[in-house]
Amino acid sequence: MSNTMQAIVQNRYGPPDVLELKEIAKPQIGDDEVLVRVKAAGVDRGVWHLMTGLPYFLRLIIPDLGRRAPKNPVRGSDVAGVVEAMGKEVTRFKLGDEVFGIGMGSYAGYTRALESKLALKPANLTFEQAAVVPISGLSALQAVRDSGKVRSGQKVLVIGASGGVGTFAVQIAKALGAEVTGVASTTKLDLIRSLGAHQVVDYTHEDFAEKKHYYDVILDTGGHSSLSHLRRALAPQGTAVIVGAETDGKWFGGFDRSIRAMVLSRFIDQTLVAFVNSENADDLIAITELIEAGKVTPTVDRAFPLSEAPKAISYLIDGHARGKVVVTIDDTNEGGTG
Ligand SMILES: NC(=O)c1ccc[n+]([C@@H]2O[C@H](COP(=O)([O-])OP(=O)(O)OC[C@H]3O[C@@H](n4cnc5c(N)ncnc54)[C@H](OP(=O)(O)O)[C@@H]3O)[C@@H](O)[C@H]2O)c1
Repeated sequence: MSNTMQAIVQNRYGPPDVLELKEIAKPQIGDDEVLVRVKAAGVDRGVWHLMTGLPYFLRLIIPDLGRRAPKNPVRGSDVAGVVEAMGKEVTRFKLGDEVFGIGMGSYAGYTRALESKLALKPANLTFEQAAVVPISGLSALQAVRDSGKVRSGQKVLVIGASGGVGTFAVQIAKALGAEVTGVASTTKLDLIRSLGAHQVVDYTHEDFAEKKHYYDVILDTGGHSSLSHLRRALAPQGTAVIVGAETDGKWFGGFDRSIRAMVLSRFIDQTLVAFVNSENADDLIAITELIEAGKVTPTVDRAFPLSEAPKAISYLIDGHARGKVVVTIDDTNEGGTG
């Protein structure tokens, strides 16, 4: 078997054209790691942050971000594929298992992943569908269930309902029995209706806060609203979960809003949560149960071959994606003989 593989790598921060398709050595696994033959790899906002090294604040808090480039040059985190090899401490998997989860560089023929960040692939999903679930699906599950503590009958507003996290959040809140309103741009309202949203708001010409103090829980993945605007739409004892924000701010991006939310929350009756996801197998299994029960279905907009991973990232960042985008890897990406 070849010792090399094709991978999308970078050696400096910058826009998608810093990414190159190269032949590199296959990863070596540690005792608690699994080598996964990658079939498909999801694209999410985190890939863009690692690629650009922006906002700078992230370079202080993410150990993998070096001064000029990420320490691991291979991009991509979300993965679905087949177990090829295992470290000696791995107990939950066997060779040939179909798995999904979070790897360390998944835009490649192979990736390594901690056993604690993998689960068996949902039986009813293709590799492409499974590959878009991990980061967005886990974030949505934890934001809705743990931070928002959504209960049946509550009114839930999902801002950014057409995006990676939002498409999962709408379905999970609905599965918990909430009455869900989704916010997105005009051309994506049909998508969020099809996911089961009871009402939709077009942010290009409607204001979700017109319903004053109406929502029990707000999940904000769109990131363009001020805290006071969110609070206007939120019930007096309601909870707003600040999942993310994309701004032009080079130093903090949208993170300053999360920090302000955390501080303000101590002085008011409403609860404002600065959300940070947790990458763990238990929640991959919890979302698998929702998927296999037919309550959650990943929304895959487009698939790009490995060589076009930079295009896939641009497609997402330029706002074209309806739900999720995926990179597919075929056997030709395994590498030459070596
Ligand atoms: N804290 C954490 O642990 C965590 C985890 C995952 C993600 N995140 C962050 O969460 C955010 C969302 O991630 P994602 O993967 O879901 O991104 P995404 O797929 O790019 O989706 C972004 C969403 O925001 C919407 N949006 C854009 N401009 C808007 C506006 N002015 N008003 C309202 N909505 C607007 C988009 O709607 P249209 O497409 O209709 O314009 C889309 O639904 C990102 O900032 C990401 O970094 C944080």
